[in-house]
Amino acid sequence: MGERFFLTTAIDYVNGSPHLGHAYEKTLADALARYQRLCGRSVFFLSGVDEHGQKVQQSARALGLAPQDFCDRQSALFRSLWERLDISFDRFARTTDPSHKETVRSFLRELQSRNLLRFEEHEGFYSLRQEQFVTEKERVEGRWPEIFGEVVPMREPNYFFLLSRFRERIRREIESRPDWILPEFRRNELRAALQRPLQELCISRPKSRLSWGIPLPFDEQYVTYVWFDALLNYVSFAENPDGGSWWPADLQIIGKDILVPAHGIYWPAILDALGLPLPRRLLVHGWWLNRGAKMSKSTGNAIDPLPYLERYGSEALRYFLLREMTLGNDADFSDEKFFQRYQSDLANDLGNFAHRSLSMIARYRGGRVRGWIDSQAGQSEKELASAFDEGAYRSAFDQGDTSTGLSVAWAFIGQANRYVDQAAPWRVARSPDSGERLDVILATLAETLRRIAVCIEPALPRSSRKLLLQLGISERPLLSRSSFAPSRESYPVGLPEPLFPRIEG
Ligand code: ME8
Ligand code: MG
Repeated sequence: MGERFFLTTAIDYVNGSPHLGHAYEKTLADALARYQRLCGRSVFFLSGVDEHGQKVQQSARALGLAPQDFCDRQSALFRSLWERLDISFDRFARTTDPSHKETVRSFLRELQSRNLLRFEEHEGFYSLRQEQFVTEKERVEGRWPEIFGEVVPMREPNYFFLLSRFRERIRREIESRPDWILPEFRRNELRAALQRPLQELCISRPKSRLSWGIPLPFDEQYVTYVWFDALLNYVSFAENPDGGSWWPADLQIIGKDILVPAHGIYWPAILDALGLPLPRRLLVHGWWLNRGAKMSKSTGNAIDPLPYLERYGSEALRYFLLREMTLGNDADFSDEKFFQRYQSDLANDLGNFAHRSLSMIARYRGGRVRGWIDSQAGQSEKELASAFDEGAYRSAFDQGDTSTGLSVAWAFIGQANRYVDQAAPWRVARSPDSGERLDVILATLAETLRRIAVCIEPALPRSSRKLLLQLGISERPLLSRSSFAPSRESYPVGLPEPLFPRIEG
């Protein structure tokens, strides 16, 4: 057992179907979880779904289903999509889980006993889409911004969490931990938001208006409001087998829309109020756009990942999402870019190198290759052996930057293909006294392929496993074994199988 690493994703609302944006976040988290495992750490990867709230209640009603039945159905949809995408979470949080509800209730009691809740009448405007009270300040030129949907006047007594007292503490925390939020410009957004005083946070809804929630332990006429319930999933599902907890998370992955205020203000305040440590880091990603517009359930322009999975496989979709998005920014999805990446990076660079290496070993040596021997390496072999910039690869993945990490891996793959072109084993094979040289080239190809298989694992777990098995390796891949490993033994190697067949765009 190595060092521990606990990472989480946002939990998706089940009132709609999973779209490409959700798929990206889960794939990003999965690649980072796999990277941590590749570094030898013992990882706990938590993902899940957010099942309470008004919109779920409404969607269930519209279909004539009981809310729990609706949640069961929707959650299964999310889960099965994550399975097809090879998302390797260790636990799948569902906020309707009875043990989660109990934990939330005990935390509410705790806040109550610490005098951090206040019962108070609130009069104002309420956004039905965001399920929250909004203030006059949020109007733009007299109108409510689109993101609030329908806004109605509302007056009702509710329970408020005394959020404002935690502002100073959160500000100090942010100032003292420069890398608490990545990327930097997101951290600045949060710092700006904390310049202003905070309003107390309404954490309840009267049952008459919203029944689909967790009843307050001290007032059964009320249920707790979505954010309070949802955020606590990170703690309530973090229990480990010895009865302890994985909390605090090493990394929490969220989209840019839920940093301010949810994860940047509410969450640290709630944790602090409960005497729990803050997460070590928040990684904030941008949005996938469809022709410049945000994909969402409400606008009906969401891209469904399923047809891509069905036509091109999970690996192609994973690679595209991880490679094409620059961390923190938004990215536009397009079929052209998808095909371009598929053809050039997967079919040509990776697929071609794997295919030519394995097929030459089969053709020239009947599928048996000699182990890599340092002393036999010539200049070009030595250059190739040092062409993988492991330091750059690690530092990119340590920062959650999969795009840069993969470009480092692909620079190595590019170098490997150039090596084959220059070494030209097909020519060497034709000259009568070249047996020794050909053995060295083929050993270099096999060893290079093994290293490539290791460093693509976070993005392409299936291809990685397939290649390693063809090289006769079945144990768990580790980055520390990614350097050229000397061995004198010769070993059998499988026949090439097409990893990424060419497609017609
Ligand atoms: O916010 N591109 O759920 P959600 C990239 N239940 N990411 C996107 C995206 C897009 N087009 N659209 C959404 C919620 N996301 C709450 C979270 S956590 C305690 C509760 C991301 O289904 C979004 O930024 O609206 C968020 O991180 C996640 O998908 C779930 O969004
Ligand atoms: Mg959302």
